[in-house]
Amino acid sequence: MEPADPPVWAQVDAYFGHLLAPFGEKLDAALKANEQAGLPAIDVSRLQGKFLEFLVRITGARHILEIGTLGAYSTIWLARALPEGGRIVTLELEPRHAEVARANLQSSGVLDCVDLIVGPAIDTLPALENSVAAPFDLVFIDADKESYPEYLHWALKLSRPGTVIVADNVVRQGKVVDLDCDEARVEGIRRFTELLAAEPRLSATVLQTVGVKGYDGFALAVVLY
Ligand code: SAH
Ligand code: DHB
Ligand code: MG
Repeated sequence: MEPADPPVWAQVDAYFGHLLAPFGEKLDAALKANEQAGLPAIDVSRLQGKFLEFLVRITGARHILEIGTLGAYSTIWLARALPEGGRIVTLELEPRHAEVARANLQSSGVLDCVDLIVGPAIDTLPALENSVAAPFDLVFIDADKESYPEYLHWALKLSRPGTVIVADNVVRQGKVVDLDCDEARVEGIRRFTELLAAEPRLSATVLQTVGVKGYDGFALAVVLY
């Protein structure tokens, strides 16, 4: 593939993004705050955020779990579609990311419906089992890729039949099929996918994506029973 300059898929992303996901101000402000705080620009794209919002709407999700908050850009998209009384639990390792996230949630007017829990997700997930937040209707996995297998385990444990589980970054520029690539992050995605395939309680697929964030993809699964 010969990428144009800028790549045509980035131009197309901008074209559809501006037309279909133009509710910019607060979301753009959040991205700006992330940049000023020196957070990595690895948030979902605008159209991907709109996709998350779409998932909340079509599932009617009231209880959402997000693993990997960063500056809460994706959290704000999820929160936009939440019905009255709905809640999001979002888990973040880095206190500094959480601090920026909290400020962004506050200025977006959605802090009230979000529980931001700071610490390694693998340590904070078990407590959710006995919380009123569970079971979750929608789970968005977007933290360290090495731990995706464990996050899938917990997503399933904290779910009910019909729960939708979404995982970001499962394609990683195609690294997932590069046999020479033994990065722990990519191995994590492979193991995660093998678990998805082997789990009879889940029906799953993958949606490859291109856009301003390059070439990547989402894994999408639904809990059958
Ligand atoms: N969902 C965000 C992007 C998340 S980036 C968005 O689209 O806007 C991944 C985040 O996961 C980072 O903020 C990183 O600090 C966090 N993370 C990494 N390892 C983690 C862990 N073990 N537990 C919880 N969060 C973790
Ligand atoms: C990375 C993490 C993400 O969640 C993402 O969407 C893109 C990149 C990363 O760790 O490099
Ligand atoms: Mg991601």
